[in-house]
Amino acid sequence: MTMDKKITIVDLQEMKEKGEKITMLTAYDYPTARILDQCGVEVLLIGDSVGNVVMGTDNTLPVTTDEIIYHTKAVVRGRKRALIVADMPFMSYQVSVEEAKREAGKLIKKGGAEAVKLEGGENMEEVIRAICDIDVPVMGHIGLTPQSIHRMGGYKVQGKEEKQREKLLADALAVERAGAFSVVLEAVPLSLAREITRTLKIPTIGIGAGIHCDGQVLVIHDLLGLSGGFRPKFVKQYVNLEAEITKAVNKFLTEVKKEKFPTDDHSFH
Ligand code: KIV
Repeated sequence: MTMDKKITIVDLQEMKEKGEKITMLTAYDYPTARILDQCGVEVLLIGDSVGNVVMGTDNTLPVTTDEIIYHTKAVVRGRKRALIVADMPFMSYQVSVEEAKREAGKLIKKGGAEAVKLEGGENMEEVIRAICDIDVPVMGHIGLTPQSIHRMGGYKVQGKEEKQREKLLADALAVERAGAFSVVLEAVPLSLAREITRTLKIPTIGIGAGIHCDGQVLVIHDLLGLSGGFRPKFVKQYVNLEAEITKAVNKFLTEVKKEKFPTDDHSFH
């Protein structure tokens, strides 16, 4: 994939067919989007994880469509190449198919997203099909679905038992059948993710789903070490920005208190 070519859902399908891995990261603001886009990340997700990592909520449930639109607009301004996928928050697609279409449309029309993501499998087949039918590309999300935290009784690996495995395979097939262009597999055993990836024609994007998925996604704050103590097993922290920021801010504090900043170099004469 050349670095100047705009990424579309068609490119992601071709990447799966060629065995080229897809990268997706969350982004919620302009500077982060600009950096990730320049690095060559193919998909930027305005995840409802914005609740946890930016707004400080306990889970993703309070996030609204307007909040996702606000963050999507900022991300769109920062990217040139990546595909923009905006999350449909809790209660924006569960009530009725009509409302789901309208809310998905808002993310495209007001936010500037190029696709939406929503959680669910067989239970969401009709909703996914309806949104695809109005030409809004849909990314599915199955396995650990954070909007179902109260049903799941916490954030737990899904699909460990045979019955759950069969259910997740059925969910994956339903998402594909409904017309989704891709599906996120979250916190499922590696062997199940491999089976789903081999079975589906559309690309799978894993998070805590092992190496065999067609692509991988992480929450950017987790990758950068900005999520405090919270670190699930599947997260790889590539840098500790919290420590770097703390060092820099402490240096600023000391220099101001000791009148070492600003120097002549930072002053006008
Ligand atoms: O909201 C989010 O960030 C997500 C990813 C973890 C896939 O759904």
